[in-house]
Amino acid sequence: DKGNYRHFMEKEIREQPEVISHALANHVDFTTNRLRPSTLPFNFKDLDRIAISACGTAYLSGLVGKYWFERYARLPVDIDIASEFRYREMPISKKSAAFFISQSGETADTLASLRYCKAAGIPIGAIVNVRDSTIARESDVVLPILAGPEVGVASTKAFTCQLAVLASLAIRAGVERGFLNEEDEKRLIAELAEAPRLATDVLKLDEQINEVARDLSQVDHVLYLGRDTSYPLALEGALKLKEISYIHAEGYAAGELKHGPIALIDESMPVVVIAPHDRIFDKSVSNMQEVAARGGRIILITDEKGKNASATETAETIVLPEVPEIICPIIYALPVQMLAYYTAVHMGTDVDQPRNLAKSVTVE
Ligand code: F6R
Repeated sequence: DKGNYRHFMEKEIREQPEVISHALANHVDFTTNRLRPSTLPFNFKDLDRIAISACGTAYLSGLVGKYWFERYARLPVDIDIASEFRYREMPISKKSAAFFISQSGETADTLASLRYCKAAGIPIGAIVNVRDSTIARESDVVLPILAGPEVGVASTKAFTCQLAVLASLAIRAGVERGFLNEEDEKRLIAELAEAPRLATDVLKLDEQINEVARDLSQVDHVLYLGRDTSYPLALEGALKLKEISYIHAEGYAAGELKHGPIALIDESMPVVVIAPHDRIFDKSVSNMQEVAARGGRIILITDEKGKNASATETAETIVLPEVPEIICPIIYALPVQMLAYYTAVHMGTDVDQPRNLAKSVTVE
């Protein structure tokens, strides 16, 4: 039931503060800011790497997970889209574990990747929304994302709940591997605990984002740029926009701009830059200047500090609250989803059932 919402996608975007909090509460205890006891059949300290495989938006949450596991737990992550992973004959370390991320739990390529790892004899974890699914059944441990039913074909709340689970896992890995002490654990979990409130604040930017989307609905091409964990978000922004508005969009790591996509920039090319004021914000500013110098129209998604430090003329700046580093990808996912959603509404497309797409892809 859509309730008072125009589309399931809108409802699912707005449910995020609540469902993110459920996803987190399964892994962390907010009264003590400590991790709950592990349900995993292995200890991260015994691993030398992990493999992650998934498709589409679920793959992009895994890509954020890679940054987190490597940053907070010094644990290398092999990640690939499942259709490549299953055929690329990747050597599997005996001291590894694999995670498969799937909203539906039925995606054919993801399931085939799981079976490839299972044949190698390593422990398998399923990060799924549908608990009674094939991927869940064939795994050694199920890590449910608890997003509730996702009806809109374009994934929204499943993505942020996957991120919530992955962030919790990365903290666990950091603790078990001795790279995070008790104080770090408590601080990071206290930061995770802020995600639902900050997500609620970001939802209030709907009117501004709707105005930006009105302009976006007039163009034929959009480029999304981001660095670090905002790079997967740039890919997600482009994926979401093309899926539901049918506007051609591409996501790039901002540092790749001068290696090709800069050739596309002219006055007709909006460039969405996703850049919280982080360690490498200055690098994103350089990229924005390169875009501005060629007449590109910048739509900057940042925070107050980023706005003040950007020193580049932007067509639009969407200012988010200041967000702790670890939850940036969770919070910045919302304006990215909202921008695609409102653009599609302006275009008048079938938002919940975009052409040619299915919610569950059970054939390769
Ligand atoms: C994008 C989208 C798809 C799915 C992909 C994987 O909005 O919905 O890219 O993310 O088909 O599906 P699951 O997560 O069910 O394996």
